[in-house]
Amino acid sequence: MSTTQSDGAVRQIYDPVAETPTSYRRDPEGAHPPLSYPGYKSTQLRHPKQPLLYLPQTITEVTGPQLQAALDLKPTDSDLTLQAAGEPIGERIIVSGHVYDTEGKPLRDTLVEIWQANAAGRYAHRWDRWAAPLDPNFKGAGRCVTDADGRYEFTTIRPGAYPWGNHYNAWRPAHIHFSLLGRAFTQRLVTQMYFPGDPFFPYDPIFNSVRDEAARQRMISSFSIHDTRPNWAQAFHWDIYLRGPGATPFEEAF
Ligand SMILES: [Fe+2]
Repeated sequence: MSTTQSDGAVRQIYDPVAETPTSYRRDPEGAHPPLSYPGYKSTQLRHPKQPLLYLPQTITEVTGPQLQAALDLKPTDSDLTLQAAGEPIGERIIVSGHVYDTEGKPLRDTLVEIWQANAAGRYAHRWDRWAAPLDPNFKGAGRCVTDADGRYEFTTIRPGAYPWGNHYNAWRPAHIHFSLLGRAFTQRLVTQMYFPGDPFFPYDPIFNSVRDEAARQRMISSFSIHDTRPNWAQAFHWDIYLRGPGATPFEEAF
């Protein structure tokens, strides 16, 4: 696609529609939260007011990052119960699953990062002023890279629910934040994983900003007796689908 500038020069511009692969499938309407959602107040302050600009991918974007070699991951990166001198307080859980692409193909070498509150619902972050105890043995952040089967796994502590100032008596359902980084620095997706049966689901505008009921269910992990470690840890399973009819809802990046 080209455009003619005021000086008469013809300039090639990136056309995302023309360059979309023919196998691309749209995600269903309402599968992802909108940039601005009235019930989630702060989105109205920080969502973009201008149309997004599409940037062409160059060799820089498509050749990096080389994750496995660059990160030098350690076992403590994916086991959040081993990151301090002592053991964190709370229910020890294993969270695992697979990352799939549009066609259901497992995605290897995908960097999966998580961050979360501790068992009392408090983040180890200076801006978190919620009057719940900090856990000196829990930092609440981890990362791993998917294996050849697209599988990730974390050992962590089940996070607690926490109040937030969005509206009167607002509580977030217990959740773990996820970030996925694909084969390019421009391919970052952010979402949240929830736990089955949480009583706060009907009251949470962030959870309900995903307007499609089936899509909301895809943000909820399932208890997995098969992944538990006897006498050690409970387990929850959560698969992530990047696109297509069964896509996991992602927060819009901007
Ligand atoms: Fe959170």
